[in-house]
Amino acid sequence: MDERKRVIEYFQRNGVLIQSEAVDFLIGLGDALDNSRKFLEGFDEKPLNVVFEDVKNFFDGNSDSKPLAGARRSREIKLEIIEDVTGKSSCEGTLSDFTNLFKDRYERLYQLLKKRQEMRNAIPIKNAQRREGDVSVIGIVNEIRRGKNSHILIEIEDESDSATIYIPDDLIDIASTIVEDEVIGIVGKGGRGGLIIARNIIWPDIPVNKKKHYADEDSYIAFVSDIHIGSKTFLEKEWKKFIKWINGEVGSERQREVARNVKYIIMPGDIVDGVGIYPGQENDLEIEDIYGQYEALAKEMSGIPEDIKIIMQPGNHDAVRPALPQPAFGKEVQDIFSDMNIIFAGNPCYMQIGEVDVLSYHGQSLQDFSTRIGVNQNDPATIMKSMLQRRHMAPIYGDSTPLAPEKKDYLLIERLPDIFVTGHIHTTAIDKYRGIVLINASTWQSQTDYQKMMDFSPDPAKVPIVNLKNSHVSLMDFSTHTPLFPLEV
Ligand SMILES: [Fe+2]
Repeated sequence: MDERKRVIEYFQRNGVLIQSEAVDFLIGLGDALDNSRKFLEGFDEKPLNVVFEDVKNFFDGNSDSKPLAGARRSREIKLEIIEDVTGKSSCEGTLSDFTNLFKDRYERLYQLLKKRQEMRNAIPIKNAQRREGDVSVIGIVNEIRRGKNSHILIEIEDESDSATIYIPDDLIDIASTIVEDEVIGIVGKGGRGGLIIARNIIWPDIPVNKKKHYADEDSYIAFVSDIHIGSKTFLEKEWKKFIKWINGEVGSERQREVARNVKYIIMPGDIVDGVGIYPGQENDLEIEDIYGQYEALAKEMSGIPEDIKIIMQPGNHDAVRPALPQPAFGKEVQDIFSDMNIIFAGNPCYMQIGEVDVLSYHGQSLQDFSTRIGVNQNDPATIMKSMLQRRHMAPIYGDSTPLAPEKKDYLLIERLPDIFVTGHIHTTAIDKYRGIVLINASTWQSQTDYQKMMDFSPDPAKVPIVNLKNSHVSLMDFSTHTPLFPLEV
């Protein structure tokens, strides 16, 4: 659709006729849709028609008589996408692609591990094997072998060589949480026929003195994940309650004040239910056409106030490649939302809102981690802490989370976020780790038979909200009539 058509349709949808010269003026300004929105928001009551002079006067600053509806909210806070794979994918799936991915992973995690005091004197594995006495090495985990008497042997590798690490009894608990393809530090004793006996296992972790970032005034990000439109179990009634609240129509004075100051809604994936995602899904679908699902979502989202910016990311149910990292939605999907205030981002994605760093990731690997490190999948906050300690969201290659071999490892947590959000697990979790707010952002789908079989216990229709001024997290619950409650995290 061309820009002119989009502008005209936007006004039509709002019941406003726009003169052709007025459209020209808006296009001449650049970012015509955004400016159309700004213009219409300036009216308490929308006009029936708009002529050239109206838009000209408005944008020339003679708009005193038209109060901006947006002024009911606090100042604008800029959002910048810092990093995702969108437009940068390079992989062709060759062997050398994988070599590049692991090389990048090793080098960047090596630098993070070297900052740990225990790893300052780390030496290449080749030298460590020859050295009698204390050594420290940094390697990528090749293989984990469990021997008799529950002994564990771990093979790690760096550019110089590989070595077998013997795990003594007192480290077995911690060593059993090590996963393949992650990068770890080992402090131990070398010189025993190529074997290194571990004394300590080191992950890069989050520095305790991590700097936190805040906004100057109360302004909120709301997290709305796993909407799963298209499914028969989409919670339409609860969704409508959310739309009413975000428009300030329901709730206590305080709840409505929060709604008025929501600047951004982040949607970390599975925004539709998709098709052919799991066996027998067709029986659970209300809408069987994937584009029909996005169209239905656009309709449901049209109730969100236009001055709230939405960041939309894909998940494993969405119409982009399933392998991580996932790029933003393609043009076909984006066009369905063309008259909305949306930024399309990849998965995972680092973004900066004002000074606040947000890492938003759908969370496909939460289940792999759950099995490997022995934490219940319904406890995503503990798994997310474990990801932060490893500074990696999905290290294991060849498990159920598909990975695409990009030149750069986009699943690595190099930059320290202030907020780390996931979805996918359909539960609600709010926690903090070393000053980083952790959120798992619920779902808008009640339990399907398939989920019952997979031991998924959803905690749906909840919206976690972070105040950027102080990183306090609140939760709006649309599944019952529970009031907003501030959580001291
Ligand atoms: Fe998912």
